[in-house]
Amino acid sequence: MERTFIMVKPDGVQRGLIGDIVSRFERKGWKLVSGKLMMITREQAERHYAEHAEKPFFGELVDFITSGPVFAMIWEGDEIISLSRLMIGKTKVGEAQPGTIRGDYASHTPLNLVHGSDSQESAAREIANLFADSDIISYDRAIESWI
Ligand SMILES: Nc1ncnc2c1ncn2[C@@H]1O[C@H](COP(=O)(O)OP(=O)(O)OP(=O)(O)O)[C@@H](O)[C@H]1O
Ligand SMILES: [Mg+2]
Repeated sequence: MERTFIMVKPDGVQRGLIGDIVSRFERKGWKLVSGKLMMITREQAERHYAEHAEKPFFGELVDFITSGPVFAMIWEGDEIISLSRLMIGKTKVGEAQPGTIRGDYASHTPLNLVHGSDSQESAAREIANLFADSDIISYDRAIESWI
């Protein structure tokens, strides 16, 4: 079972899309093991987007992600890292397919509503950046005995 870090970005929070995004993950069958509304610090934002430090849009990315509250979550599921990125949709608005979160709601690439980890290494690093081990809740769902 994989774990991934999912974050509704400030635009998604301000547009009232937390519920829609959480609902899509719930309906897919994935398990929420932590979630919180929070302001991320500049240091946390720079660590989160460290891979983009040399890109021309890095400053704007950090400014944007720290500009208002985000809804940070940890979800579990089989192959959830690749499957959740399919559900989120492509980064560029012109490539995000209808039916995906970005395809349905994003109309400007930098305002793409939601983040999802792109590998197990990224997920572990991104989760450790914003959560303590004690924030993660382990629980059983009866339905899991059938998977
Ligand atoms: N060319 C660009 N111009 C402006 N912003 C960009 C550009 N490319 C990426 N970004 C911003 O940087 C973020 C990180 O880019 P990345 O390539 O990691 O995309 P992603 O993995 O789909 O998005 P995220 O990491 O936020 O989930 C994007 O979500 C987007 O907001
Ligand atoms: Mg990314």
